[in-house]
Amino acid sequence: MARIPLARPVISEEMVQAMAQALRDERLVMGESVFRFEDEFARYVGTDHAVSVSSGTDALTLAMLAMNVRAREVITTPFSFVATATSVVHAGATPIFADVLADGNIDPSEVMPTRDTAAVLPVHLYGNPARMDEIAEAAPNVRIIEDACQAHGASYKGRKCGAIGDAGCFSFYTTKNMTVGGDGGMVTTNDERLANDLRKLRDCGRVSRYEHDVFGFTSRLNTANAAFGRVQLRHLDEWNERRRALARRYSERLKDVMEIKLPTLGTRDAVPVFHLFVVRCDDRDSLARYLGENGVETAVHYPIPIHLQPAYRDAYGFARGSYPASERMADTALSLPLFPEMEEGQVDEVCRLVIEHYGGKG
Ligand SMILES: Cc1ncc(COP(=O)(O)O)c(C=O)c1O
Repeated sequence: MARIPLARPVISEEMVQAMAQALRDERLVMGESVFRFEDEFARYVGTDHAVSVSSGTDALTLAMLAMNVRAREVITTPFSFVATATSVVHAGATPIFADVLADGNIDPSEVMPTRDTAAVLPVHLYGNPARMDEIAEAAPNVRIIEDACQAHGASYKGRKCGAIGDAGCFSFYTTKNMTVGGDGGMVTTNDERLANDLRKLRDCGRVSRYEHDVFGFTSRLNTANAAFGRVQLRHLDEWNERRRALARRYSERLKDVMEIKLPTLGTRDAVPVFHLFVVRCDDRDSLARYLGENGVETAVHYPIPIHLQPAYRDAYGFARGSYPASERMADTALSLPLFPEMEEGQVDEVCRLVIEHYGGKG
């Protein structure tokens, strides 16, 4: 096992107890904790509604199904976790890719809607807010769905990610900035009709116990997971603050390593939450190997851009060269360890090894 892991969820006795109590005292599915978690999450993000579902992928898919994007197009980024684009396909639409900027977020000048565009789906990659104003300007009168699966608590011009577009989609998978102790997801929105449609879609299309007026799914968040998530949510701000402090420490210690490009620490307008701390370098694989040999776990998010995934090459005929900025990101990005319980000394140790790798004195 690596001496310094890439990520580690915080799991406290309080979270385990909350889960156990929900299992003992509540309905296992659609128990009270689910609705409380939704209310608390909506309040946290700053939207009127939050509808829980069983994953981030389902949050995206159901949001787009509820917006009826079927047989139309959704503009999104090729540089994300594959689920971003796959959810477009599940919703019956065609993903149209727009290449990215140097920070990995979608380039608004590449967002070029047509008559067939049903929505734009930007991702707040690594927890760093996408340029939402420019995206909205590039796509007036087009629905915007935020993939905030890596951006719990991040903010853009004073608003939380997930509260800026028509809907925000979150994942609570175990490595995210907060988890429900397994898979889970949430859609945030101010649109009451959309929220009501989502509540039906996630629950078998139910309008009442035995009446179903749409073709729904079984995509509910389990009560025990919601109870776990409620406790995590109370710690989210403190954990994000810790992530930012560790990111600043990395940046300070690595600032003179010319071979490495550091991520933005944010601006007054865009406050990131460092779901991942991703550096870029030309000899990425060799640096990763060196760190690995010395007990530091790293990862690549993402080594294959979505358009070059076999499923997408086969379905849409993409080839290398289609989205050069994304391909370059895929070749150079390296995620260094970052998690709330990481110690300063561990950051220093990673930095020492990086500097040593480049022949300096760590
Ligand atoms: C940007 C992004 N979109 C979508 C997803 C899908 O979320 P889930 O794994 O909960 O389905 C994830 C996370 O895995 C993600 O990081």
